[in-house]
Amino acid sequence: MRILAIETSCDETSAAIIEGVNGTVRILSNVVGSQIKIHTRYGGVVPELAARRHAELIISVISEAFRTADDREKNSSNLRSFYIDAVAVTYGPGLMVALLVGVEVAKSLSYAWNKPCIAVNHLEGHVYSVLAKRAEENTWSAFLAEPFISLVVSGGHTELLMVNGYGKYTVLGRTRDDAAGEAFDKVAKMIGLSYPGGPALAREAASGNPSAFEMPRAMLESGDFDFSFAGIKTWVKNLLASRDKDTMPICDIAASFQEAVCDILVAKTIAAARRSNVERVVVTGGVSANERLREKFGEAAAQTKIACYFPAKSLTGDNAGMIGIAGHLKYLHTKKFDDIFTIRPNPDLKWG
Ligand code: KG4
Ligand code: ZN
Repeated sequence: MRILAIETSCDETSAAIIEGVNGTVRILSNVVGSQIKIHTRYGGVVPELAARRHAELIISVISEAFRTADDREKNSSNLRSFYIDAVAVTYGPGLMVALLVGVEVAKSLSYAWNKPCIAVNHLEGHVYSVLAKRAEENTWSAFLAEPFISLVVSGGHTELLMVNGYGKYTVLGRTRDDAAGEAFDKVAKMIGLSYPGGPALAREAASGNPSAFEMPRAMLESGDFDFSFAGIKTWVKNLLASRDKDTMPICDIAASFQEAVCDILVAKTIAAARRSNVERVVVTGGVSANERLREKFGEAAAQTKIACYFPAKSLTGDNAGMIGIAGHLKYLHTKKFDDIFTIRPNPDLKWG
């Protein structure tokens, strides 16, 4: 089954062509039109601007996705509607006005081409992005056996789930305040780094000392699987207020902050796997690109014999490839498509 997938839930305009056969998925193209430049001057995503840019970019991004897939397959035919079996689109959670662009374009194409539509939960896209782990090498990935523990860490979410099968999710814990990526972004801004802060802070941390400051590791001993990152953010704010900014070792602050956040994420996730007697952990979302986080999960895996999986870096941030994967799985498990006349964006969409 070949799917055109569309993702516009936040600030990435993305389209992908994926090929799925019984849960193994190959990504033929995955084009991401980033809006970073537009939002940088505001230090965060401005929904109205994101939506306008999605509308400007979406058709050329879709067209590029078809062209790239065509080149990859060395197919000289002009790839258009006949090439795909369905259109998948993110319908939530996300920014209402941003989601609306992708959803309406997907419905229009679906109607015009007479192809069925699959409405996809963005978070499911992140969870299953790991299935195309080796898409870059053009190899088919093995189906990831459930049950597994899933940690989704992005700019909008920090959620720990037990996954017993497609659609069978139990939320074990989530952040009570900021998402991990949001905390990275806010602390990065405080120490004078540009948006998006996560990657910038990680780069700065590379030359810093992670033990320079003992930052609080909130809720580590709480006995549940919830997270909190507001305290560590305030800790950094107070530190900056207490000293002369010019003499502040920015790279040490970055490294110490990154270390504390990674410690919390790893400890809670591994504890959840142990408590649930599960041997596999899957870490996805924008923050899963973080090298130190990958390293620390690797160390924990070696000590505990719990296998930790990460998606390819190109699939950690928002992208339509992961939406295509989740769309394929949704159809595989429900054997149903969605009715284009009733699909509506749902900014607060939950699991399941
Ligand atoms: O999944 P994503 O692209 O969008 C959401 O669904 O939110 O995640 C974006 C988040 C941002 O907060 C960004 O700063 C963070 O992921 N991020 C990182 C890294 N790369 C992206 N955080 C820490 N280290 C990174 N290398
Ligand atoms: Zn996301």
